[in-house]
Amino acid sequence: MNNWQRLLWYYGAGRLFTPRPRWFCYNVTRRCDSRCIHCGIWRGEHPEELPPEELRLIFSNPFFGAVRTAWLTGGEPTLRQDLAAVAAVMIASMPSLATLGLATHGIRTQRVIQQVVNLLDVLDPARHGLFIHLSLDSAGEVHDQVRGIPGAQAGVLATLDAIQELRHDYPGHRIEAGLNCVIQPANVAELPRLLAFARERGLSITFNIVVITDQIFDNLESEAELRFLPEQVEPAATFLEQVAVQSSAALCDHYRQIARMLRGEPRDRRCLTLWSTVNLEPDGTFLPCPTCSNIYPVNVKGRDLEELWRSQEMEALRRRIVTEHCPTCQLGCSLGDSLTWSEWRRGGWGP
Ligand SMILES: C[S@@+](CC[C@H](N)C(=O)[O-])C[C@H]1O[C@@H](n2cnc3c(N)ncnc32)[C@H](O)[C@@H]1O
Ligand code: SF4
Ligand code: SF4
Repeated sequence: MNNWQRLLWYYGAGRLFTPRPRWFCYNVTRRCDSRCIHCGIWRGEHPEELPPEELRLIFSNPFFGAVRTAWLTGGEPTLRQDLAAVAAVMIASMPSLATLGLATHGIRTQRVIQQVVNLLDVLDPARHGLFIHLSLDSAGEVHDQVRGIPGAQAGVLATLDAIQELRHDYPGHRIEAGLNCVIQPANVAELPRLLAFARERGLSITFNIVVITDQIFDNLESEAELRFLPEQVEPAATFLEQVAVQSSAALCDHYRQIARMLRGEPRDRRCLTLWSTVNLEPDGTFLPCPTCSNIYPVNVKGRDLEELWRSQEMEALRRRIVTEHCPTCQLGCSLGDSLTWSEWRRGGWGP
């Protein structure tokens, strides 16, 4: 997509047209062997995990023909033994796929790397790159505290080193690694050090404010630990403004907006997730928005997703989410396809 097309996409999707999704996000499992404070997925129930044969029935629909980026996430996706078989079905069904993403806690290096190798074996290096997103909430011990696993941070560092080695072993493949940090009370003071660590290692890093919710991250049990103290809000907002200056156009505006939201303003940026991304749960339940897991679930087994995507039912769900959830949502889920007028005027996404 060039910048003109991105601009049309941002303003037109959902208003002038309903596009086929360009992003796909599959929560392959709800199982998890981490014990994060900010995420209660590990405490919850584990829905059925659809086997690759059943997933093939869902994915073999031309509806998935425009998907360019597909994510394997969870729960902890590397716990799923048949992960590469799941990826193979996605690859076979998505002719436009250019990037496969793996979101992992990265703690259990040996298992994570074995799964990465399995994925590389089913990818076609001429068509697909692999992006590995590792969670790192602090460059020091706070990461272990936040993740509830002694040695978690050391595990992530070892995984980063092992990914670097894989680049030598698989020279034909495009293998990228990046970090994601959840900003929360325990790590506010650590953020500059984490940013410096990422810069030193030449790693991209994204920051999200912790979502406190009874939905997918289901963390109300830890609410007291997750609410910022009044004196932590300004340092978090100031940090995001500093990161904004060094970020791409889309992230820059997003971080500035989140800083304003932390100071009490509502969200003013459209989220394209509702028109650009299909989110599926392990059992085939469709989530119109990645964070709304219990309010509007629709199971797609035996349903035509294209028909659902364009239905009145779906439009009504989107309107409800835009009205009830988006104004207070601080996530940057769909920035990949967004390009606002002000970003476009400042040069957009570049050549
Ligand atoms: C749900 S996890 C799944 C992948 C993997 N288990 C991991 O931790 O990276 C995907 C991302 O969501 C982030 N996350 C978890 N709980 C969150 C919350 N309450 N608010 C914002 N992001 C959260 C995680 O830190 C991780 O980067
Ligand atoms: S953030 Fe990831 S690692 Fe932590 S509990 Fe949630 S799914 Fe597991
Ligand atoms: S609630 Fe958040 S993630 Fe969901 S559509 Fe709205 S802004 Fe996007």
